[in-house]
Formats: sequence, structure tokens, C-alpha cells
Amino acid sequence: MHRVTPLKVLYFGTPVVLISTRNEDGSANLAPMSSAWWLGQTCVLGLAETSQTAANLHRERECVLNLASSALVDAVDRIALLTARPDVPPHKVTRGYTHSRSKFAAAGLTPVPADVVSPPRARECPIQLEARLDTAHSLAEGTTAFQVSVARTHVAEELLIPGTDYVDPQKWDPLIMKFCEFFGAGENLQPSRLATGWQMPHAARAA
Ligand SMILES: Cc1cc2nc3c(=O)[nH]c(=O)nc-3n(C[C@H](O)[C@H](O)[C@H](O)COP(=O)(O)O)c2cc1C
Repeated sequence: MHRVTPLKVLYFGTPVVLISTRNEDGSANLAPMSSAWWLGQTCVLGLAETSQTAANLHRERECVLNLASSALVDAVDRIALLTARPDVPPHKVTRGYTHSRSKFAAAGLTPVPADVVSPPRARECPIQLEARLDTAHSLAEGTTAFQVSVARTHVAEELLIPGTDYVDPQKWDPLIMKFCEFFGAGENLQPSRLATGWQMPHAARAA
């Protein structure tokens, strides 16, 4: 049996991307996002217009998509409720967000120069994609789909199938965001600040 129900959240499970962009003052920003999908060397990123990352992408037209492995769950969670916007939007204040322009440090991650774009890569992320903005499409509810082209790809050597340009799916363990909770290899990893901020129910969890 199925029940007809208007689901309030449609986050069924997607890999977490730590997107780095340049702020207008030249500093680097880093933000977790997971509304991303891929087709060939194109990626479409769904971002709220109220984020600093959206403003940075419109202005600078460059980013690095740092894919987080499940081992980086702590780093992602540490910056879950931060924004580089000095004027934290009221809906974020309500959810417990605060301002930071030092999100690499807050995450405990290391910025390293990219090759063909100006925002830095996050060294600890096993897959890093340097990308440029092609177009931006306005969506509903103050969100935008940013279409970017991947210009250069960096992959941790140990993830590659030896002698090929293919990632070994057995070795790549992406951090998955599912209904605001963190998963790796199918397991719930640890409590999520995002889920707390959004007041997501935890009724299904046994413990
Ligand atoms: C795991 C995770 C996934 C997220 N996914 C998205 C997303 O897909 N799109 C989005 O706009 N915000 C997403 N967020 C929220 C942003 O990270 C948040 O708005 C943040 O404040 C943006 O930072 P900025 O204002 O410095 O750009 C996500 C947060 C977390 C923790």
C-alpha cells in the first residue's frame, strides 16, 4: 500500500559537494551543497539565492566542486550552519546560522591553489573539479540552477583503477545527504546540525 502524502522535503540522497568560490573581498568561501547532478562534463547546481555562494558564482563565474568522502562528515558538519554573508538572512538566524569568512579553517580543511580557476581546492577532498559557469536559470522559491562546465579534474591516486582514468566505485565512498542526515556506505554516520537547524523529525531512528 502507498499513502498519498505531500512530502515536505524531497532530499532522497545525493553526494555532498563542498563548493569553493571567491568572495568579493578576495577571500575564499566554502559551502556544503548536495542539489547537484551531472551529465557528461556538465554539472547543474541548485543553490538558494540568499547564499553567498550564489552571489559569488554570479559575479566570479568560477568554482571548485570538492566532493566529500564519508570520512569528511565532521568537516562538513562543522560548517553546516555558517554563511559568508555578513548580513545573515532572518530565516537563517532562526535556524541557528552564524557568519564566517573563514570556513576552510572552521571545517579544518586546507585550501590549495587550483590550476585554471581562482577559487582554491580543498586538499582533503579526494575528488576536486575545477569548473566555470555557463548559464544560470531561475527556479522556484528563490533558487537558481547554475550550469557549470568542468574544466579540470583532480582525483586521489588511490581511487583510480590502476592504469586507467576511471574511479574505482568500490573505493569511492561519497558522503551522502539524505533528508538532511549524513550517510556513508548506507549507514547513518552522526547527528547533523543541518537536520537540527531544520527541525527534521527523527522518528525512524532506532536509538
Ligand atoms: C549537507 C548539506 C547540503 C546542503 N545542500 C544545499 C544545496 O544543495 N543548495 C543550497 O542552496 N544550500 C545547501 N545547503 C545549505 C548551505 O550550505 C547554506 O545555505 C550555507 O549557509 C551557504 O553558505 P554561504 O552563504 O557562505 O554560501 C546544504 C547544507 C548542508 C550541510
